[in-house]
Amino acid sequence: MNASHRMRQMLLTLFLAVVTATASVQAQPARDEYKPQVGQEGKDVIWVPTPQELVEKMLGMAKVTPTDYVIDLGSGDGRTVITAAKRGAKALGIEYNPDMVELSKRNAAKEGVSDRASFIKADLFESDFSQATVITMFLLPGINIRLRPKILDLRPGTRIVSNSFTMGEWAADEEGTVKNGCASYCTALLWIVPAKVEGTWELPQGELALTQTFQMVSGTLRSGNVSTPITNGRLNGNQISFTAGGNQYTGYVNGNVMEGSVGSSGTWKANRARK
Ligand SMILES: C[S@@+](CC[C@H](N)C(=O)[O-])C[C@H]1O[C@@H](n2cnc3c(N)ncnc32)[C@H](O)[C@@H]1O
Repeated sequence: MNASHRMRQMLLTLFLAVVTATASVQAQPARDEYKPQVGQEGKDVIWVPTPQELVEKMLGMAKVTPTDYVIDLGSGDGRTVITAAKRGAKALGIEYNPDMVELSKRNAAKEGVSDRASFIKADLFESDFSQATVITMFLLPGINIRLRPKILDLRPGTRIVSNSFTMGEWAADEEGTVKNGCASYCTALLWIVPAKVEGTWELPQGELALTQTFQMVSGTLRSGNVSTPITNGRLNGNQISFTAGGNQYTGYVNGNVMEGSVGSSGTWKANRARK
């Protein structure tokens, strides 16, 4: 074998080594090739993505704006968080599956919203979501019920939107469905966390005794010796409305004070006396 033949052999060997090394690198699945499977196990709920049309509907019903802080409980591939961030909101996904968390971060980067969309690997039952102004979720009825006490302790006015699943006897304030582009799980339910008003309130002319079941309010308004039942009592976050003695009361609850208007021109104010 002469020198030039040996040189050609060496170059061929080198070429084959490079080709083999490249092929073996390409055969490794890149991290961003992680493909979640619909129905795959999750800690407490399997992964099924919310159809994009319903994501839009949910965020629309919650009236998400750039001033909001949206938290998706069990955020899957990050679509709700990313869509909220595209609406200008700050948004956080809480997801137990670390692969889904990394996938969500990559999806957010692709959509150019990494500055507003973040994701953490955590158990939603052990997470603090008290700073949210909007909570989105696609979990299960039993999980919604377990979360309900914590949700009811959120700031009054916080909007909660659930894909399909209810909150037990806490009836939704609004329900919406999408028909186009949605084959299953096409209903969104919205709740507004109500202020806590149950108890006795003092007015200059008497006393308001309120009983509260979620956003529904009943009770009596006593003025002097006359006691009238309250009808159509309802809370929308911090806003209260009810009818008593043929008068329509509307008002705003601010901690231990509520005040507003009655009838066409009157005003009213009540201070909390007892819970
Ligand atoms: C039905 S999927 C909904 C995904 C996403 N929110 C959506 O609407 O497209 C439920 C998600 O919750 C996650 N999950 C289940 N149990 C969880 C837990 N205890 N803490 C955090 N995430 C959880 C699952 O991994 C899954 O991604």
